[in-house]
Amino acid sequence: MDDASPHPNYVKGSATSQLAVLPLPTPFKPFLSSVKEPNTYSYHGPLFQLLAWLSSRPSSEPTSVRDPVTASIFSHTDATSATTTKSFLLTFLEQAASDCKHSSDCCWLDIRMTKPEDYFKIPRWHQDGNYFEHTTASTAQPRSKWATTLLGPSTLFLDLDFSDPELRDYVNFENEGAEWRSSQSDDPDNSVNKKKVDDYLRGKKGPKIVELELGQVVRFGYGQLESPVHSEPDMSGGDRVFVSVMFGFEGEMRELSKRWKVQWGEGWS
Ligand SMILES: [Fe+2]
Repeated sequence: MDDASPHPNYVKGSATSQLAVLPLPTPFKPFLSSVKEPNTYSYHGPLFQLLAWLSSRPSSEPTSVRDPVTASIFSHTDATSATTTKSFLLTFLEQAASDCKHSSDCCWLDIRMTKPEDYFKIPRWHQDGNYFEHTTASTAQPRSKWATTLLGPSTLFLDLDFSDPELRDYVNFENEGAEWRSSQSDDPDNSVNKKKVDDYLRGKKGPKIVELELGQVVRFGYGQLESPVHSEPDMSGGDRVFVSVMFGFEGEMRELSKRWKVQWGEGWS
C-alpha cells in the first residue's frame, strides 16, 4: 500500500495503490432511508450509455424517471427524487471513471439493495479474484473496483502487512480463502471458519479497519496477491444500499456479461 505521500485527489492511498479512499466531491446528503424489497440491479455495457441515461432530466418528479437505473432504485427503496438519485450516481461514475487509469469504455455497475441479514455478523474476510481475462497489462494502476455505500454500514477494509507469509493461510485471492471455507456442512453460516480468520486478523499487530463515510468512494484492487482484504459489514442492524462499478474494454466486459448471462447494454434486476 502506498500512502506515504498524501495527494489532494485522495484521502488515503494514491493512483497506483491497491486501496484508495477518494474525497467526497460534495457533502453527502442521504436521499433514501429504507429498502422496500431486496434487489440487485446490474448493468453491463458502454459507460456513455449509462451516463446518457442518468443525464436525462425528468420532466417532472417523482413519476417521470426515464432511465432503468433510477427506476430500479425507486421500485426497491423509498427514494423519490429522480434529480438527486441521478445526480449522485452520475457524480459517483464520473469520479470513478476519472480515477480509473485503464480503459473505462465499458462498465459493470452493481447496486445491491438489501434487508437485514445475520450472515456477516462475523466478517467474511477475503480478497476478490479476477473477474475476466485482462487484455492489457496493468502497470498504471492495479485492476480495481470502485464502491460506495448510500445507506447502512460501509464495506470493511483491513490494512494488512502482506510480507507476513502466515497471512496466506487465512486469505487467498485465488480461492477466496478456500481453506477456511472448507466444507462445514453442519455450519451453514461458516461461522467457525469465519471466526477463526477474524480472530487471527484482528489479533495481528497493526491492521485497522479503514474508516469510510456514507457516499465516499473507495477503490480496491482485485486478483492480485496484495489486493485489499475486505468484508461485507455486519448487516444485521438495518437496510443497506451498496453501489460498485468496474471498468474495462468492451471485449473484457462482454466476456463477463456472457458468463453471467446479463444482457449487454440493458439493465437487469
Ligand atoms: Fe469482495
